[in-house]
Amino acid sequence: MKISARASRMEPSATLAVVAKAKTLKAHGKPVISFGAGEPDFDSPPGAVRYAEKAIREGQTHYTQSNGLPELREAVRSYYSSRFRLDFRAEQIIIGAGAKPLLYETLVSLVDPGDEVVVFSPAWVSYVEQIRLLDGHEAIVDTTGTGCIPDTAITRKAITPRTVGILINTPNNPTGAVYGEKTLREIASLAIEKDLWIIFDEIYERLTYGSATHLNLLSLVPDVADRTILINGVSKAFAMTGWRIGYALAPDRIAGKIGAVQGHLTSNACSIAQWAALGALREGEADVVKMREEFSNRLNLMVDSLGKMPHIAFTIPQGAFYVFVDIRKTIGGSFDGRVIRGDGDFCEALLESEYVAAVPGSAFVAPGHIRLAYANSAEEILDGMKRLHRFLDRIVLP
Ligand SMILES: Cc1ncc(COP(=O)(O)O)c(C=O)c1O
Repeated sequence: MKISARASRMEPSATLAVVAKAKTLKAHGKPVISFGAGEPDFDSPPGAVRYAEKAIREGQTHYTQSNGLPELREAVRSYYSSRFRLDFRAEQIIIGAGAKPLLYETLVSLVDPGDEVVVFSPAWVSYVEQIRLLDGHEAIVDTTGTGCIPDTAITRKAITPRTVGILINTPNNPTGAVYGEKTLREIASLAIEKDLWIIFDEIYERLTYGSATHLNLLSLVPDVADRTILINGVSKAFAMTGWRIGYALAPDRIAGKIGAVQGHLTSNACSIAQWAALGALREGEADVVKMREEFSNRLNLMVDSLGKMPHIAFTIPQGAFYVFVDIRKTIGGSFDGRVIRGDGDFCEALLESEYVAAVPGSAFVAPGHIRLAYANSAEEILDGMKRLHRFLDRIVLP
């Protein structure tokens, strides 16, 4: 019996694999510190929990509209209106079981076999896997040489007659880069010139630090409103990853298609979780501010520690909750007699010797790097950084 070519090509999520290995070691009593997980460690906002409890008690346990509860779509509409001064109608908003399926439903609506989508690397790996699942191709534009910010001239070169769209993720996973006005304006102009769609994933928009601010593409360049799909959700801003609620905001001509795909793929997102998301949007603002402050403190702690370590380099992140560290100097070196052939070996040796979990950069189309998430307490970050420093000190360079 055969397995489809599409499934055979698909790689399991490296992030989830690292998290699973760290959890197994922890279950065996090892003092693991995980910088692997791509999720906030905070509790969900009390408002979200209260709304969910009420929904269960009141029997809100049936199918909802496939595109989401009217109340929740209205709350998302109102959020976009007050935060970004954007006017969407309810029909343009699709609530899904996380941003991830909405991205896939968007790609299903745009990509035919052989089509290409520009993806800036380092990149969240699901973009690439989802494009491939549709027999499309990712056109990777490497940003590691340009401070993790896309260069327009290089991007232009990646566009071919088969290109259908450009995927933008700011604040960025895994680099923490926040794209500025010039970059966004230039990409928008390029998309207009080449007649391309833009998928604008702003799932980390509430998490920027220092002087950085998140810019919504449509607030900046209203001219691309008819070619841009915004992707967002409650996972990162409200620490609600497990509830699985995301939203897409799209021009009419594509919103209906995304909704139709969802209708056949999942139907509505979990009804209780939708009520929880409504509670978060209505009552969780103060929680978001508190979490952002805490993340900001942790970022400073991590960056201060990393700055004192040998053999590594990194760009100071301005958003999300990751630091993406260049470990290329150590490749070909050794640890305890074991050769470090790549970022996978590096992470394995780090986990096995110091019980510190990090995700290999290869999982983000950026070999020779590791991603450290700072979704841990200050004490854990300091302890984990001490261990990483010790690990680096013991590496014999090539
Ligand atoms: C860049 C990016 N987009 C989208 C998602 C998906 O978020 P969710 O499906 O939890 O809403 C993630 C999660 O890690 C992400 O990092």
